[in-house]
Amino acid sequence: MRTKLTLQTFALARCTWLSAALTAALLWLPVHAQTAAPEATPASAPVAVKAPPQDAKCMECHDDIFEEKVIHVALEKGCTTCHTQLDAVKRPHKSTGPLPHGLKAKEPEICLSCHEKEKFKKKSTHKALEKGCTVCHDPHSTSQKKLLKSAIPELCFSCHEKKNFAGKFTHSAVKGAKCASCHLPHASDNAVLLKKTPTETCLDCHDEIKEAPHVMAGFSGKGHPLGDEVHTSPVENPLRPGRPFFCGSCHDPHKGDFPNLLRQDPKLGMDVCQKCHQK
Ligand code: HEC
Ligand code: HEC
Ligand code: HEC
Ligand code: HEC
Ligand code: HEC
Ligand code: HEC
Ligand code: HEC
Ligand code: HEC
Ligand code: HEC
Repeated sequence: MRTKLTLQTFALARCTWLSAALTAALLWLPVHAQTAAPEATPASAPVAVKAPPQDAKCMECHDDIFEEKVIHVALEKGCTTCHTQLDAVKRPHKSTGPLPHGLKAKEPEICLSCHEKEKFKKKSTHKALEKGCTVCHDPHSTSQKKLLKSAIPELCFSCHEKKNFAGKFTHSAVKGAKCASCHLPHASDNAVLLKKTPTETCLDCHDEIKEAPHVMAGFSGKGHPLGDEVHTSPVENPLRPGRPFFCGSCHDPHKGDFPNLLRQDPKLGMDVCQKCHQK
């Protein structure tokens, strides 16, 4: 359903919209030609985690677990903190419980026995968590920070199609592989796992948009109004019911076919506005 929004300022808006979009297209082209290196997720300073004395026997064969740079602090408590149902005297070892590897509990419960449950359940929760924690984290040690199995964005691309994050025009923030500059990996109180409210997420790097006449100077010099700056609760995006109306309603946050990452062809002129506004 299309929201009935009325417009009196069309004529005023038109010229700036078109010319600005054109100039912007020319200005931004070289920027898109650049490619940035993927965001490095280097391991932070190694934590001195050591196996406790009761694991000495296990270490005779499993010392490789401590070889990587980032080691899970939980290992200090011993292998049997998690592998409670294991008969490791024989080889191959035998699981004495119902779970593989002699594990104490299933995921995510086994992890949430030490990590705060509340952090993983918020208004928007990552569906990836339904597959457990070790789809992204190694339970023992890795070369990546935060025990990640691989660096961002490769980690994300193991489930999200890479092709959806590069196009004719790719947002510099995405080219820089900075998924984490906008999204949280587990859960968020904001929509779509966003770190902050949708508008704040964009203004974090584009603060100037708040001041600069944007889209068209006609709106008392302030540009197109944004739902969540005016209303206590966000206004709905007329084109995507259930999603908030914000910068990302006109601009694709990842990539697009049009200059300025616009979701609609700016050549359509006022027709772009009419996708949301009726005459
Ligand atoms: C914090 C909980 C935890 C601790 C502590 C722990 N493990 Fe594990 N371990 C796991 C989980 C979870 C898996 C299953 C991983 C998977 O399914 O990908 C696993 C799997 C394994 C495996 C089989 C898969 C692989 O990665 O090779 C071995 C071997 C293993 N653990 C050895 C050990 C040893 C030895 C210790 C002690 C030095 C230890 N673990 C301590 C949670 C733990
Ligand atoms: C003599 C060498 C040796 C010792 C000692 C040893 N392991 Fe292992 N462990 C292995 C080998 C080899 C494997 C892989 C094949 C197998 O299951 O035997 C393995 C596999 C495992 C696995 C994965 C089992 C699975 O079902 O995937 C776990 C967990 C594990 N070991 C934990 C331990 C713990 C905890 C100890 C100490 C109490 C220990 N091991 C002592 C050699 C050893
Ligand atoms: C016995 C308690 C315990 C269990 C069980 C446990 N952890 Fe941890 N974990 C810790 C402690 C302690 C730390 C270090 C303090 C912190 O960052 O919270 C830690 C840190 C981490 C970190 C951050 C590492 C870093 O470099 O900052 C990750 C990721 C993590 N755990 C994942 C897991 C996953 C996944 C599981 C389940 C397979 C799990 N943990 C199970 C105790 C545990
Ligand atoms: C989709 C991948 C993914 C899944 C699934 C996932 N994590 Fe994480 N986790 C991450 C990323 C990415 C970071 C690093 C965030 C950063 O760099 O600030 C992280 C960071 C952490 C940390 C470090 C502290 C923090 O919050 O930054 C802990 C502890 C942790 N995860 C535990 C878990 C546990 C427990 C589960 C399962 C309930 C889990 N993670 C599931 C991707 C994941
Ligand atoms: C184990 C698979 C897996 C991994 C790894 C993974 N995701 Fe997801 N993610 C999903 C699934 C499943 C969904 C729900 C369906 C969808 O929107 O594609 C989802 C949804 C999302 C959503 C939309 C959430 C919403 O509320 O609509 C965002 C944002 C997201 N993922 C970001 C990331 C980022 C960033 C990473 C890397 C740090 C990542 N994902 C890694 C499986 C994964
Ligand atoms: C500049 C901020 C920003 C960056 C960087 C970013 N995203 Fe997003 N992402 C968003 C916003 C905003 C939305 C919601 C768009 C909407 O609802 O209109 C979103 C939506 C998503 C969704 C849900 C599907 C969709 O398209 O609506 C997934 C999955 C996702 N992002 C994954 C990623 C991954 C993976 C990366 C890194 C390669 C990434 N994002 C980088 C801001 C960003
Ligand atoms: C991590 C910083 C960061 C965040 C967050 C961010 N951007 Fe950007 N954005 C950039 C950079 C860098 C450029 C390249 C031009 C520049 O230097 O200003 C850019 C350029 C743009 C452009 C100009 C067209 C283009 O392709 O160059 C648009 C439109 C844009 N961003 C929209 C958004 C929207 C909408 C959001 C929120 C979903 C957002 N940005 C969040 C960093 C960011
Ligand atoms: C109603 C649609 C619409 C909304 C909402 C919108 N923009 Fe734009 N934006 C445009 C159009 C059209 C352009 C092309 C040139 C122009 O008119 O300024 C543009 C251009 C841009 C540019 C590149 C040129 C410049 O002025 O720097 C950036 C960056 C940008 N927008 C960021 C944002 C951010 C951040 C928000 C949210 C605070 C936002 N936009 C909200 C339509 C919109
Ligand atoms: C993606 C949908 C979308 C597009 C495209 C869009 N608008 Fe809007 N517009 C809205 C929403 C939603 C509001 C209400 C915002 C609020 O209440 O804060 C709004 C408010 C306005 C207002 C304030 C007066 C009113 O009716 O509340 C004007 C004027 C306006 N838009 C003009 C335009 C023009 C001109 C264009 C084309 C350049 C345009 N809009 C493109 C969704 C859109």
